Amino acid sequence: MRYLTFALTKGRLANKTLELLEQVGISCEEMKDKDTRKLIFVNEELKLKFFLAKGPDVPTYVEYGAADIGVVGKDTIMEEGRKNYEVLDLGFGKCRMCVCGPASAKELLNSHEMMRVATKYPIIAKDYFHNEKHRSVDIIKLNGSIELAPIVGLSDVIVDIVETGSTLKENGLEVLEEVCPLSARMIVNRVSMNMEAERINNLIKAVREIL
Ligand code: PRP
Repeated sequence: MRYLTFALTKGRLANKTLELLEQVGISCEEMKDKDTRKLIFVNEELKLKFFLAKGPDVPTYVEYGAADIGVVGKDTIMEEGRKNYEVLDLGFGKCRMCVCGPASAKELLNSHEMMRVATKYPIIAKDYFHNEKHRSVDIIKLNGSIELAPIVGLSDVIVDIVETGSTLKENGLEVLEEVCPLSARMIVNRVSMNMEAERINNLIKAVREIL
């Protein structure tokens, strides 16, 4: 039997994914060692491999078949636009993609004047403003701490992830519009879905039952 390989998103999503997999009888003891510098972990008994990657790289590993299965946020799936099957909403990592800013930006947001939008998600932001709101905007790509942008005058609004809303609140910003809800999803390589149909479908079924 060949190995089925999982690409997991480093951090909180990976921990949640491992918890979920344990519930369906898939565990990887090696991976629980927090001090390890190992990058790939094996469950010999079930012929499974696991590795951790940065979120935006997960759909890439899966598209090229370096991993059969990936677990990653819907935000990353939309932004990366890779050709994979999205097979399950895992129900954790729930948050929302929103347009946020100071309350004073509402008027500009509802106008057709030029507006600057800072975001870590330029594709999602462009799709939202161009295709849904039929409005042109100036998109500025940033890599983190997006809430800073409207505060220091880099942009009028931001498109960013809101979970509890406390980052916004503590910085005098608010949700102005919701773009879409987000959560962790399971994705599968298109060829693996056929070649390993039985094993992958059994896994999907088992996970679906406990969700
Ligand atoms: C994310 C997001 C917001 C924050 C939202 O940032 O970009 O800044 O979390 O969470 P909240 O609504 O619960 O406050 P993250 O901490 O991942 O880091 P980043 O700013 O470097 O992207």
